[in-house]
Amino acid sequence: MTQQDNLAARLVVDDDFEVAPVNDRLFGSFVEHLGRCVYTGIYEPDHPTADEHGFRKDVIDLVKELGATAIRYPGGNFVSGYRWEDGVGPKEDRPRRLDLAWHSTETNEFGLHEMVEWLEATGGNELMEAVNLGTRGLEEALDLLEYANVPGGTELSELRRANGADKPFDIRMWCLGNEMDGPWQLGHKSAEDYGTLAASVAAGMRQIDPSVELVVCGSSAHGMPTFGAWEQTVLEKTYENVNFVSCHAYYQPFFKEDGTRDMASFLASGVDMDGFIKDVAAVIDATKARLKSKHEVYISFDEWNVWYQGEEPSKTPEGIGNWPVAPRLLEDIYTAADAVVFGDLMITLLKNADRVHAASLAQLVNVIAPIMTEPGGPAWRQTTFYPFSLTARLAKGGTVLEPKLAADAVDTPRFGEVDGVNAVAVRCADSSLAVFAVNRSLDEASEFEIKLPEGAEVASVDARTLHDDDLFAANTLDDQNRVTLHANESAAYDAETGTVRVSLPPVSWNALHIK
Ligand code: AHR
Repeated sequence: MTQQDNLAARLVVDDDFEVAPVNDRLFGSFVEHLGRCVYTGIYEPDHPTADEHGFRKDVIDLVKELGATAIRYPGGNFVSGYRWEDGVGPKEDRPRRLDLAWHSTETNEFGLHEMVEWLEATGGNELMEAVNLGTRGLEEALDLLEYANVPGGTELSELRRANGADKPFDIRMWCLGNEMDGPWQLGHKSAEDYGTLAASVAAGMRQIDPSVELVVCGSSAHGMPTFGAWEQTVLEKTYENVNFVSCHAYYQPFFKEDGTRDMASFLASGVDMDGFIKDVAAVIDATKARLKSKHEVYISFDEWNVWYQGEEPSKTPEGIGNWPVAPRLLEDIYTAADAVVFGDLMITLLKNADRVHAASLAQLVNVIAPIMTEPGGPAWRQTTFYPFSLTARLAKGGTVLEPKLAADAVDTPRFGEVDGVNAVAVRCADSSLAVFAVNRSLDEASEFEIKLPEGAEVASVDARTLHDDDLFAANTLDDQNRVTLHANESAAYDAETGTVRVSLPPVSWNALHIK
């Protein structure tokens, strides 16, 4: 598009061309035994709002408002040293253990049964359970599946019943380990070794319950030295027996040579995520072709977010005598700019809804999370809460339409020229239209035009924008509502041209609901 005073972008909405239905699982999240995600996050028996199980009701209300669906549990790096049996049975008998991943003490007060009960309390969200393929293997994975899903009549299924769960948990989705490509992972393996193990665990699990949906570990980042080759080797060994391969990606503004942060590239993080998805999809397709398979494997983007890795909040405790219980870890405070990048990542997931059938925002509470809590105190929404909740509310049950977007470019040091606006249109469950758009420019507004399908009749346009003149504005304990969504009064429908026009402020995330 031609450069004008402001940037410009145009999205043509064609109702006849669909990408895919929006899978509810795209709005998944992640609860790891890490820092205060579980303890004083979702579980705090002494909290004034705690229910009879010790679950914080203020947090449950926010989780419902957020619209999160499937919850990945119990890790993350944590799962690679976890013994699931420690977390079942009478609480007073449960052992305290070292958690090597986060150099903490795990009290095991909260385990599988508590997670299932908590999910019921949030409105029946799905559990996505991870098995330990770091320090453990086939036998323990089979034991856990028997304990969870077999109705009764065997030692482990009867143990579950004796522990208070008469009905099986019927867990559908299972992760075969976590980030096994990462040298930091307890029990880290080569692609050859992991692929062989994952194949045998997958086959064994299917002997118990053929209908489970299995997620094999892909790369823990797009930039891993083994990226691509890892997926190729692992999928070659597991393809017919798995349903998903995982992707993980965290973004942060890196420092430039002059010591300032490269915000322009950070704002274009969605470009990297899009490339990551396309690359993994290509390996899936190549493997499918090589194996002459009819089976489909999708992507589970089961860790994604903005994360200021390596900075103070993410430094794990140290010392042989220092293993704190639920320390403050990875408690990043998100800014307005972070929320815009985050919203762009959600747009990117939606645009790839044909390949990405599940995604988990990492994580849910306190740990790089949209919801923050104080022990004994309040719970509040981070900036990132807003793009997630509004996208979930409008897009769930909908269908992603083919994105036909032309946008003026912005320049970035890392990715070169990128579209200044990224956008996607979703036909909502009630046949209204939702358009999500980010303006990635640091200093220019973008005049955004949405050409509606021929014959569309518009009764109302509701436009919401997340933008703050201070890119680093954030919501904190003392100022919990500093950054929220605002009505964008510039949105207007022109019946003659069949277009909606709206001005997108620089560094903004926007949602338009056109009825
Ligand atoms: O989400 C935080 C950590 O990031 C997870 O435990 C791990 O899987 C990833 O490296």
